[in-house]
Amino acid sequence: MCGIIGYSGHRPAVPLLIEGLHRLEYRGYDSSGVAFEQAGKLEVVKAAGKLAALEAKLEGNPCLLATAGIGHTRWATHGLPVERNAHPHLSQDGDMAIIHNGIIENFQEIKEELVEKGHVFLSETDTEVLAHLIGEERKAAPSLREAFAAALRRAHGAYAVVLLAPEEPGIIYAARMAAPLLMGVGVGECFVASDIPAFLPYTREVVFLEDGEIARIEGAKWEVFSLKDLSPIAKSVSHIPWDMQAAAKDGYKHFMLKEIMEQPRVVTDCLSGRLHRDGEGLRVSLHELDALPVPSRLHIVACGTSYNAGLWGQQLLENVGGIPTVLDIASEFRYRDPILRQDEAVMVISQSGETADTLAALRLAKEKGCKVIGLCNVVGSSIAREADVVLYTQAGPEISVASTKAMCSQMTLVALMAAYYGQRRVPAVKDSALLHALVGLPQLLASALPAMQERAAALALRFASARSFFYLGRGQCHALALEGALKLKELSYIHAEGYASGEMKHGPIALIDPQFPTFALALDDALYPKVKSNIQEVLARQGRVIALVQERGGKAPELAAEELWVLPEAHPVAASFLALPALQLFSYCVADYLGKDVDQPRNLAKSVTVE
Ligand code: M6R
Repeated sequence: MCGIIGYSGHRPAVPLLIEGLHRLEYRGYDSSGVAFEQAGKLEVVKAAGKLAALEAKLEGNPCLLATAGIGHTRWATHGLPVERNAHPHLSQDGDMAIIHNGIIENFQEIKEELVEKGHVFLSETDTEVLAHLIGEERKAAPSLREAFAAALRRAHGAYAVVLLAPEEPGIIYAARMAAPLLMGVGVGECFVASDIPAFLPYTREVVFLEDGEIARIEGAKWEVFSLKDLSPIAKSVSHIPWDMQAAAKDGYKHFMLKEIMEQPRVVTDCLSGRLHRDGEGLRVSLHELDALPVPSRLHIVACGTSYNAGLWGQQLLENVGGIPTVLDIASEFRYRDPILRQDEAVMVISQSGETADTLAALRLAKEKGCKVIGLCNVVGSSIAREADVVLYTQAGPEISVASTKAMCSQMTLVALMAAYYGQRRVPAVKDSALLHALVGLPQLLASALPAMQERAAALALRFASARSFFYLGRGQCHALALEGALKLKELSYIHAEGYASGEMKHGPIALIDPQFPTFALALDDALYPKVKSNIQEVLARQGRVIALVQERGGKAPELAAEELWVLPEAHPVAASFLALPALQLFSYCVADYLGKDVDQPRNLAKSVTVE
């Protein structure tokens, strides 16, 4: 979704805004723009398309003197992705500019009212309406701050909005309601942005803004006050441990590849401090959960890849943890009025911690008196702050729009949770093989990944011309099949469907022909013989099959398939962690071979902050 950055300080603002916008590119966008003060006047430059188009327009602009400005990458919601709809948008008099992420739901009603007063709009956006409304409020309000607050009090919906007006030179106002916004506090300078990487080279000191708060920055000075009555709010500054290297490509061609190859480190970090040896062997400590009762039922709610991680964990939570577990897609959850009992818990899984539907599910669960466990990657994100208990996945910044290492970390943490609840049961259920498998995972992954990358590249060459793909798996591999299909379609725009293998003969098998290949997950688990039969059914209909299998006793299994992709022997849970990067690397290699925009696939946003 839209990326936002605002700066007030001592450096030339425009190059810094552009640099920040580049760091927010991963959020997905289709146009961009900046506004800055130049000799007491407001200047706005915007362009459709990638940031390079904006940079080209700024070339030769004598904007280096400006030390305050705002910048935006737009992911279109209202109106086409064209220059006139790009942000910043101006008030009617052109003396204030705003950028916005979110949706102002009552913009049509406000627009009609403003049109009656003679306002003329140049775009189709809800944001321009808000800019005009602030300008209108300014006519009666005693100050810019009060006009800003008055307009926002009338706006319904979600927003992170940033205002620049030369009336107050060098000052930026920013407000948040159900959309991500935070402040970076540097030396003699302050930032506001939708995500930390935007200002990471300049500061790691962050103030997290809450819904209903307005921030004012002016060089080294910053303050936060309430939207409701403009009373001051005391805020604390948090230190973010990420460094720039964590948010850079580090020699890899794409962030996605870097993030896939980081998975051994991701597992190590996620396990760190959570596994201990005592007299009885390995024990899990998830002290964050100690204060919550063991839930009678766990509802996992999430979207996309995070949902797939939850689905993968369901079986472990039930079989090892002993917790009846059900899954919901976050965008459906609140509309089906779910029965949630107070002795149950809801676990929301989200890499970004800002996904609008997942956040809404969290809020519904709390309203219904359920405890909410948040599994999040981004420290200080909305979900992390609003959940009763947060378990951080510790994957580090995930920049590629396609989620990879985040899922690996979510799976690690869910496996730990299953073992943790197993321990809390009376009598305790111990699965020491599972815990030993997790301990050995980083080494196993690190040694397998290079060969997997080569194999993925070779298979990508052979299969990149396919227009459709099936991904099949059973048990936990069903969740991985869904994830494999999701990765292929989002990166390479090849149609792909993930299925529980046993469902094939209930309809989808009708599609099988030599042009419709199947990627079958046939790992060495209890369901292997069943999956083998399902593969036979596909082969019998002239389907081409890539089978992801595991060595047994040092040898590849005997399985008829066009391509066998052989992974090392491993505990069944560890095997999932090998299969995951195999699927990710295959999709990555296909997309790269086809010349697609791997890190920023078309139409996608990294964090979906609107419903
Ligand atoms: O930040 P979240 O984990 O809540 O995001 C959920 C989905 O939007 C996300 O996983 C999406 O499906 C990715 N594009 C998958 O690669």
